[in-house]
Amino acid sequence: MCGIVGYIGTQTATEILVSGLERLAYRGYDSAGVATISEGKLNCIRAKGKLHNLREKLERDVTHAQIGIGHTRWATHGKPEEHNAHPHLDSNTKIAVVQNGIVENYRELREELKNKGVEFRSETDTEVIPHLISQYLTDSTLTFLDAVQKTISRLEGAFAIAVINADNPYELIVARQQAPITLGFGQGEFFCASDVTALLPHTRAVLSLENGEIARMSPLGVEIYTFTGQRVSRFPRTLDWNPGQVEKQGFRHYMLKEIHEQPGVVRSSLETYLNPNWHADENPDFSPINLGLSSQLYDNIDYIQIVACGTSWHAGLIGKYLLEQLAGIPTTIDYASEYRYSPKPVIPHTLTIGVTQSGETADTIAALEMEQARRSKLESKFQAQLLAITNRPESTIGQLCNHIINTQAGIEIGVAATKTFIAQVLGFYYLALDLAYHRKTLSNERLTEIIDGLRHIPDSIEKTLETQDHAIEELAHEFTQETEDFIFIGRGINFPIALEGALKLKEISYIHAEAYPAGEMKHGPIALLDHKVPVVAVAMPGSVYEKVISNAQEAKARDARLIGVTSAMNVQEAAHTFNDVLTVPEVEELLSPILAVIPLQLLSYHIAVIKGLDVDQPRNLAKSVTVE
Ligand code: F6R
Repeated sequence: MCGIVGYIGTQTATEILVSGLERLAYRGYDSAGVATISEGKLNCIRAKGKLHNLREKLERDVTHAQIGIGHTRWATHGKPEEHNAHPHLDSNTKIAVVQNGIVENYRELREELKNKGVEFRSETDTEVIPHLISQYLTDSTLTFLDAVQKTISRLEGAFAIAVINADNPYELIVARQQAPITLGFGQGEFFCASDVTALLPHTRAVLSLENGEIARMSPLGVEIYTFTGQRVSRFPRTLDWNPGQVEKQGFRHYMLKEIHEQPGVVRSSLETYLNPNWHADENPDFSPINLGLSSQLYDNIDYIQIVACGTSWHAGLIGKYLLEQLAGIPTTIDYASEYRYSPKPVIPHTLTIGVTQSGETADTIAALEMEQARRSKLESKFQAQLLAITNRPESTIGQLCNHIINTQAGIEIGVAATKTFIAQVLGFYYLALDLAYHRKTLSNERLTEIIDGLRHIPDSIEKTLETQDHAIEELAHEFTQETEDFIFIGRGINFPIALEGALKLKEISYIHAEAYPAGEMKHGPIALLDHKVPVVAVAMPGSVYEKVISNAQEAKARDARLIGVTSAMNVQEAAHTFNDVLTVPEVEELLSPILAVIPLQLLSYHIAVIKGLDVDQPRNLAKSVTVE
């Protein structure tokens, strides 16, 4: 999605802006631009395509401005062409605006402005903003801040903006209406960005604007107001991230680095959430899991609903399985984009869980906000209990939810989610085990067994990476030329892994892939099969293993090439069924999804690399989907 960077201070703005945009590139974009003010003049440079195009143009047009705004655009209204790239300017070339989000009523504002003689240079929704600000400044004695405030009161939709004005060269105005924007505090210099990754090289003191807030930034400091003009007093917090987290560190792609970070992520998550002093045989009166959630929450859950999108939805689907099977709590899962328009009936004592790696997905945030709003007027047993499962506790979802499980995955740069998925899944294991302990739905012995199994997971992921990476790379060569479709099948707790394998393949290799519960194949999808359509079966030993094998045999009988993901203990038997066997170390079925997904991540990664595709920034996709 679009990225915003802003700077005001004593350094040369352009380099700070462009390097900030480079750090936001992972979010996805198709054009970029910066606007700066020097010697009272606004200078705006934009370019279609990758950021090096913008850099080239900027090298020909050097300014030493100390204030500026920059933007990477992910096209929504208007094609990805230079004239639609941000910043957008008013007709007098005084005011420059960058926006992330959508101004929903832009058509009527455009008509209104056109009737007043304004000529538009783009097809974007954003261009109405500088023209409106300009009109308010010309028609009245409003200050710059007041004119921006007044303009915002005319805008409908979810957006964040940053604005500069050549007539006020010491002010940068930033506002938030449901799209994220964070301020960064340096020594005599201030920053803003739609994502803290752009701020990390400069400062770790950050403050996220809340909805309905506007900030006036000057070299002397930052003032924050509500849209209705009340001054707000808030303090920055210090991030404990280091800039190394957003470097490739010798890996060819961020995605590969993040796949290899998974053992470490799981270790740090286990260290954070497993209680080391818990021993089943001592019958402890505290939980083996240390989530820090209030006991009041546990006493009051009769029903759980999960909302999420994409890969996070797949993590939620595993979560549903665990919460029902381990803790015995009826659980539903919905796509957030559907839920917000067709919510479930309001049930008392409901826990609503939002799952998101960016913490900013517009649909997930809107579904949670809607849930909170519709319950707020009801009696206490209906009140919303919102839990976020996210690696970005500082994000919008972190501000919105009263409970958070920080998955400890840190920031993820590759657009295809890998380590954040595993970490979200672990979050659900902890929640389900903790609830199972509190509700006594599992014996202490069974809890110990599962927890011991979890402790082996980091080593098993390492082993999978060591033993499978090269073999999967070899295998990948066979699917890069003529393969147009893939089918993934799985059952029970591993059906979501089939879905996730298919999504990863679609996203980065652009090969059409579908996933089905293995038992559903014969109810229709089996008609798709022939020798040209490989079938990947997630066949982890356990309660549904034989069923998956027999479903796979049905595919084989239709000439499909069969690839099996199974346990290393099972390899000889599996070789009778599968043409290719991808193995993970032995693991009990309940924990098997955490391992089974690894070979599928590697398969999609290697196919995409061999096809020469942009693994970290696949076409049309964005890391943080902040529009509906
Ligand atoms: C897939 C992927 C997307 C996201 C989806 C939700 O690799 O990354 O499908 O899972 O856009 O994003 P978050 O988790 O940020 O809410």
